[in-house]
Amino acid sequence: MKTRKAIDTLSIATKVVLPNDTNTLGNLFGGELLAWMDVIASVAAHRHCRRVVVTASVNHVSFKKPIKQASIVTLEAKVSRSFYSSMEIIIDVFVEDQVTGAREKCNDAIYTFVAVDQHGGPIQVPELIPESKEEIERFNAALRRKQLSLILAGKMDPSEASELKRLFK
Ligand SMILES: CC(C)(COP(=O)(O)OP(=O)(O)OC[C@H]1O[C@@H](n2cnc3c(N)ncnc32)[C@H](O)[C@@H]1OP(=O)(O)O)[C@@H](O)C(=O)NCCC(=O)NCCS
Repeated sequence: MKTRKAIDTLSIATKVVLPNDTNTLGNLFGGELLAWMDVIASVAAHRHCRRVVVTASVNHVSFKKPIKQASIVTLEAKVSRSFYSSMEIIIDVFVEDQVTGAREKCNDAIYTFVAVDQHGGPIQVPELIPESKEEIERFNAALRRKQLSLILAGKMDPSEASELKRLFK
């Protein structure tokens, strides 16, 4: 099966926080940001495998800073590693200073998508080739995140988690 470079999966979306997107404090509602991240992550996963993809799990989300109404928000998603049918996607979220245009990272998240056939069953995806230092670091750490996610989901016995064991030995 053809391989694909991580950079080829890069997917970017720019949004403006409208009043309807905010909570009672006038900041972006977390659930809205989760939906934005889900959509852009699905585009990155689709670019990797060119098949229908579904969200299998949200592995990590951190809301580091509130995002104010009228902010310009950019979401950047890239596949960090592919396995047999699943892909880990990391989404970095930036807010743009309205005066200087400088970007500040305010959130990140890690989602897992699975490529499925017409019956909804998992199918094989291409191998991902990381190139930059960050892509290689994220690739190398992805297996232990997958094992942790599977343990938390009750789909893996901790005794089988080879990468996590290595971490604690
Ligand atoms: C995701 C889905 C296709 C997995 O199907 P399944 O029959 O459980 O298949 P498997 O258990 O073989 O899992 C398929 C892959 O997903 C991975 N996976 C499943 N759950 C996971 C989790 N919680 N975290 C990380 N990876 C997970 C498996 O490790 C496997 O990866 P691999 O093939 O790369 O080794 C199926 O559970 C599904 O359709 N879920 C609903 C998806 C959906 O509707 N999403 C929108 C939410 S509203």
